[in-house]
Amino acid sequence: MKLYKITIVALLLSGVGRAEAQQLKLNAGNVDEILKAMTLEEKASLLVGGRNKSYGGGNATTIGFTEAVVPGAAGLTQGIERLGIPPTVLSDGPAGVRIQPTREGSSRPYHATGFPVGTSLATTWNVDLVESVGKAMGEEVLDYGIDVLLAPGMNIHRSPLCGRNFEYYSEDPLVTGKMAAAFVRGIQKNGVGTSIKHFAVNSQETNRNHVDEVVSQRAVREIYLKGFEIAVKEGKPWTVMSSYNRLNGVYTQENRELLTTVLRDEWGFDGIVMTDWIGQRNTAAQVHAGNDLMEPGMPAQSEEIIAKVKSGELSVEDVDACVRRILEYIVKTPRFRGYKYSEQPALEAHAAVTRRSAAEGMVLLKNEDNTLPLKDLKKVALFGITSYDFIAGGMGSGNVCKPYVVNLMQGLDNAGLEVTEDLKKLYLAYKDYQEAKTESERLSFDWRWGRDIFPEMSVSRTCIDKQAKKADVAVFTVGRQGGEAWDRKVKDDFNLTAQERQLLDDLCAAFHAEGKKVVVVINAGGVIETASWKELPDAILLAWQPGEEGGNSVTDLLVGKENPSGKLTMTFPVSAMDHPSSLNFPTTASQVPGKPVEGAGKWAKRNVDYTLHQEGINVGYRYFATAGKKVSYPFGYGLSYTTFSYGKSAVKASADGFKASIVVTNTGKVAGKEVVQLYVSAPGGGLQKPALELKSFAKTRLLQPGESETLTFDVTNYALASFDEAVQSWVSAKGRYTVKFGASVEDIRATSVYTLSKEFTQKVNDVLKPGMSLE
Ligand code: BGC
Repeated sequence: MKLYKITIVALLLSGVGRAEAQQLKLNAGNVDEILKAMTLEEKASLLVGGRNKSYGGGNATTIGFTEAVVPGAAGLTQGIERLGIPPTVLSDGPAGVRIQPTREGSSRPYHATGFPVGTSLATTWNVDLVESVGKAMGEEVLDYGIDVLLAPGMNIHRSPLCGRNFEYYSEDPLVTGKMAAAFVRGIQKNGVGTSIKHFAVNSQETNRNHVDEVVSQRAVREIYLKGFEIAVKEGKPWTVMSSYNRLNGVYTQENRELLTTVLRDEWGFDGIVMTDWIGQRNTAAQVHAGNDLMEPGMPAQSEEIIAKVKSGELSVEDVDACVRRILEYIVKTPRFRGYKYSEQPALEAHAAVTRRSAAEGMVLLKNEDNTLPLKDLKKVALFGITSYDFIAGGMGSGNVCKPYVVNLMQGLDNAGLEVTEDLKKLYLAYKDYQEAKTESERLSFDWRWGRDIFPEMSVSRTCIDKQAKKADVAVFTVGRQGGEAWDRKVKDDFNLTAQERQLLDDLCAAFHAEGKKVVVVINAGGVIETASWKELPDAILLAWQPGEEGGNSVTDLLVGKENPSGKLTMTFPVSAMDHPSSLNFPTTASQVPGKPVEGAGKWAKRNVDYTLHQEGINVGYRYFATAGKKVSYPFGYGLSYTTFSYGKSAVKASADGFKASIVVTNTGKVAGKEVVQLYVSAPGGGLQKPALELKSFAKTRLLQPGESETLTFDVTNYALASFDEAVQSWVSAKGRYTVKFGASVEDIRATSVYTLSKEFTQKVNDVLKPGMSLE
């Protein structure tokens, strides 16, 4: 801002143009006029991010070089001083504002709140809560002088091994879309923007910049685009980020069918599309596709736009369409309004928001004999290096530079529980050793990307036996990290390591021999294998990566200050390979390295250069429920410290679908919240459908023992529809639909019937065809 002013003053003094300075300046009502006044060079600069000499942005072409505006912000749009167009600032996302925590010449830190990751927010199933988290995060966006938060991440959990699942919400598009819409609404309430990402089908990190995701039109529409459609229609994000990968042969950034036909013409999106952070591709194709902004931006891209307009390869109309949309975006931004940002976000108030929301996202997977909450237990033997080095969030651009992370040791301590001193000393010494060895400390190590977990420490059986005598209970935290640009492995990541398994075996043997319980806390961004060991401990709490207050949030549940009400938004399979997508995921490719596959080009390597979505719409529970395949924990599952009964359900036809309701009563002894999932089984005939599909969900308020609430659901005939490729239409067959009210996908508590007397159809465009056989 300062440089902006200096430049204006300098221009005025130099006399370059008293007249010019008084000329046309951008305002909300003169976008057309501005567009007319712009030179081709100016237009080309506006479509390419990051580089702005006159506004002091330096030659910022990659992440981290935008210091002159907001240090550490991921990108910029360029300003054009002559026309009063300021640069605007784009920053990651999605678990908080990611900026550089230190600045030259300033001794104070520039921290942002580390909120829970996407999976954790989604498993609250509480859209109001997610909106309130968005509201708090958006305040920090505004306070730090940022115009757009590059969030939420909302790709589908096609495989539990995708490295970025922690940033995303679910294997189900409805949950994904509803959560994203709520998050967007919350952030944008502050007068700042969001960028829903990564559009689309960015469901693997291996070779993410080039992999061609080959997907049937039905699966694209029903599974991979549906969440984005809901988020666009219900959240109205200012921007969309196109992904790195190709979809059915075309880079999404160059895909006019995706960015214009579907996103704008069919869904009515009126904001801007920006690329994910890639270098120069076919810029003209990107502009023609309707990808308005190239990030992080290279001068060569502007030059290409100019050259191709001059040579006639790119039309001025295409360029103008993008420029107009960018101008319409700019006039909405706080920077354009000259908002005076404080750089003093309400970190303390937001710590309370993250503590509460993280606790609500945690899922109680097992609670034998009411092991939890811990009652009258004072002394905890705390195992697992992650208990002392808690993981608040994932790695990569989703890493937030937070002021602190409360680990579980501190969380227990804050609640007045005692952690056995000798074990604590052992782990803390091991942590010091690892930090010294890797020259890293969780909060300061590489602020841009975060760091991985330390390997687990081995503990002797003698030591464990001693702990079992001293302590009242054992708590063992299993930690997992995930991050951008790499996918997870089955061995030693999805599955427990041999060392972790040994520790668990020893803990259970020793503590059970003393008549004491063992509690496992999972501190991970995504799914891990549980089937082979879940019988061993007495309780399992899935804490996710719950943000900076993690240790406090876990403790709130362990001691019963909060009652768990999170439920899974993804399946916990028996084995990672049980997902049909595993046949076509990089894990298979790495088992047959370098094997070229016919028909995909000479060097094309299956699951690396291209990935066939042979499972189609059979993603997650849609597959497991239809195939009757056993899982470890089903979609929608989660326990509580209380119990709920479901009363009679009702379904009534509405103008465009049906309205349903059910009464839920807290039948237990403590207050709690229940998530009810509404699934629908379609009538036979017509398109093949999954056994049941989630069509709506709702969560009760905090119900006191004995208290009831009537939950209501709205489902449209459009929401019931499947995509019929033969007629390129959304179709709901006429007939009887069974409406199922579930505590999970496997625990249906009540059913009703909805009869659709006339087939519903809605025609759309015949686009996004796979160019390769899926056989
Ligand atoms: C990530 C995006 C992120 C961008 C800017 C990319 O590598 O894929 O999610 O917003 O970097 O940091």
